[in-house]
Formats: sequence, structure tokens, C-alpha cells
Amino acid sequence: MSGRLAVGVSGTGSNLAALLAAARRGELGGDVVLVFADRPCPAGQLASEAGVETAIAPDDAALAQALEHTKPDLVVLAGFMRLLGRSITDAFAGRIVNIHPSLLPAFPGLHPQRQALECGVRITGATVHFVDEGVDTGPIVLQSAVAVHHDDTEETLSARILAEEHRIYPEAIRLFAEGRLSLKGRRVSIREGA
Ligand code: GRF
Repeated sequence: MSGRLAVGVSGTGSNLAALLAAARRGELGGDVVLVFADRPCPAGQLASEAGVETAIAPDDAALAQALEHTKPDLVVLAGFMRLLGRSITDAFAGRIVNIHPSLLPAFPGLHPQRQALECGVRITGATVHFVDEGVDTGPIVLQSAVAVHHDDTEETLSARILAEEHRIYPEAIRLFAEGRLSLKGRRVSIREGA
């Protein structure tokens, strides 16, 4: 199965860059056919420069229209900061993934790296999860742990987590594209590869 991916962005776009690089290497199981942003941002610029179709979708109506046009198999949120409403999460149930820089269910929402430092945890990390109507609450696909150092700042910790994000997001998307993920209740099973 080869996947048509629509990637949602709002910020720098380092995850988008990792996905585009993985696609070029044939490691994503699909292609990025649309990059949508809720606002003009460096990630949108990066997409244009890479020759990918882009759309600004400040609300769900605009996003629904863009998705209707490109008909993606999977919607990939990569630092997309606007919450999606039910019309989108229902229409794409089981076909929207997000990446979050913590080991969910710990530290959902904004500034998870700061939350981890303030809480004093020794280990945090990154999570790829399916998106439901909640905030960072959907079924977990892949996680990677990152140790918190005693002298970490939000910036140093974020950078080490980002490196893991760039590794596990393409991997999770490839598993989806290969049809190896199945959902039972809140649990995601991963079928062994051939
Ligand atoms: C990442 O840490 C992502 O997990 C979070 O926002 C950040 C986006 O970074 N939701 P980038 O735009 O992919 O560089």
C-alpha cells in the first residue's frame, strides 16, 4: 500500500523536513502530497521550496476543503498547533496521527518539555499517537524515551527529544502505510514485517 500524506504544520518544520527526507529515501511508504498550515510559517515555506502543494487552512472548513481536494490516506500533524474539530476527527477517524514531545499520557498540551523539567521527571520522550477529539489523548503508536539531564534547559531537552521525533515519526507512518497497525479500543497492535 502506498500512502498519500497530508502534513499539517505551524512552526519550524523540522519534522516535516525529516518526513520529506524519508520519503525521498523511499522509507516512508508514501508521499507528501499536501502541506497545510494554519498560518504562514517557515514549515510552509520549506514545503513550497520542496515543490509540495501547500494550503493555508486557518479553520476546519478550509481544511476540509483542502483535504477533500487532495484525498489523503493519512493526515500527519507535525507541529500543527490548532486543535481540530469533530468534523475533521470524525471524517478521518483512525487516519490522523500526531507527534508530541513527551511520553503521553504525561504532559499533554502546551510546553511539555517545560512541564517535564518542572515536574522533575528523570525520563521523558516523544510519542506518536492517533488523534481523537481530545488534546493528545488518542491511541499510542510509538514512543521513545529520552533521559532528562540535571543541567537541561527547555532548549537542550527539546533538541534531544526532537532527534527522537525525527526517527520515530517516519517509522510510524511507514507502519501505517504498510497496513501493519490495527486498533482495538485504545490499544494499537503492530504486525511484524515480512
Ligand atoms: C515538535 O516538538 C512537535 O512534537 C511539537 O511541536 C514541535 C514542532 O517542531 N508538537 P517542528 O516544527 O517539526 O520543528
